[in-house]
Amino acid sequence: MYNLLKGKRGIIFGALDENSIAWKTAERVHEEGGTFVLTNAPASIRMGTIDKLALKTNAQIIPADATSVSDLEHLVDEAVQILGGKIDFVLHSIGMSVNVRKGNHYTNENYEFTEKGWNVSALSFHKVMQVLYKKEAMNEWGSIVALSYMAAQRVFPDYNDMADNKAYLESIARSFGYFFGKNKKVRVNTISQSPTATKAGHGVKGFDDFIAYSDKMSPLGNATALDCANYTVTLFSDLTKKVTLQNLYNDGGFSNMGVSQEILDHFKE
Ligand code: NAI
Repeated sequence: MYNLLKGKRGIIFGALDENSIAWKTAERVHEEGGTFVLTNAPASIRMGTIDKLALKTNAQIIPADATSVSDLEHLVDEAVQILGGKIDFVLHSIGMSVNVRKGNHYTNENYEFTEKGWNVSALSFHKVMQVLYKKEAMNEWGSIVALSYMAAQRVFPDYNDMADNKAYLESIARSFGYFFGKNKKVRVNTISQSPTATKAGHGVKGFDDFIAYSDKMSPLGNATALDCANYTVTLFSDLTKKVTLQNLYNDGGFSNMGVSQEILDHFKE
């Protein structure tokens, strides 16, 4: 441990259970000396095991539906009060598609479901940042990170409308990141993560094949949730002060591959 986040305060969204990327991140941030509040949607708090994480990391839980601006306002006010000062880091680790859940094919979207999923997975990132921005709740040289996937750039047919949500999410990071950088000296980035075995990950059709394919394509293999947590810690630390408006791949090299020997060998069999 390097004490990289000593004295820093934050908000971590999206720890549902111990497989969640946000869960691993909270554990690593705690180990690096950061303090934070944990938040999730009320139903997810009831369904999941976040209490265990809160105990382990000495954190308070503040329920908030990330699509509700009033919930987010309450969350930010409470966080600043509980933590004893403005915020240095925020992790947005939230994703959900109703079309995926209901098994609707991309060519047969129910647009009410599409809007709900977009609101949860993409627009919520704008809402989180707008609340932080208007309340002047971030410290200078603070860092905001959201999690994305490469379906924002390339076609993965079964990723469904989440591909569009991720493209929108990454665009918000750049657009809001400009104003947060210029006016508040806060950086905003997305991490584009390998397929990871979590509740949201398993929602993707054919996930087991998908994760195995990705692993064989990547020279370093898939990045795990812990790898993602470690990368996020560096982005929250003072070692990355001038990194902003970026979509950063944490994917074992997958995004720059054409084909790997393992995949070719598979076709020889
Ligand atoms: P997860 O299922 O553990 O986390 C998703 C979280 O979103 C849950 O904690 C859930 O309660 C929360 N959420 C859903 N609706 C919400 C709402 N209205 N308000 C507040 N929170 C809400 O799964 P995972 O994989 O840890 O997902 C975290 C992020 O990582 C998501 O953005 C996901 O798209 C992204 N990601 C995941 C990959 C994977 O293969 N698992 C790959 C690349 C990115």
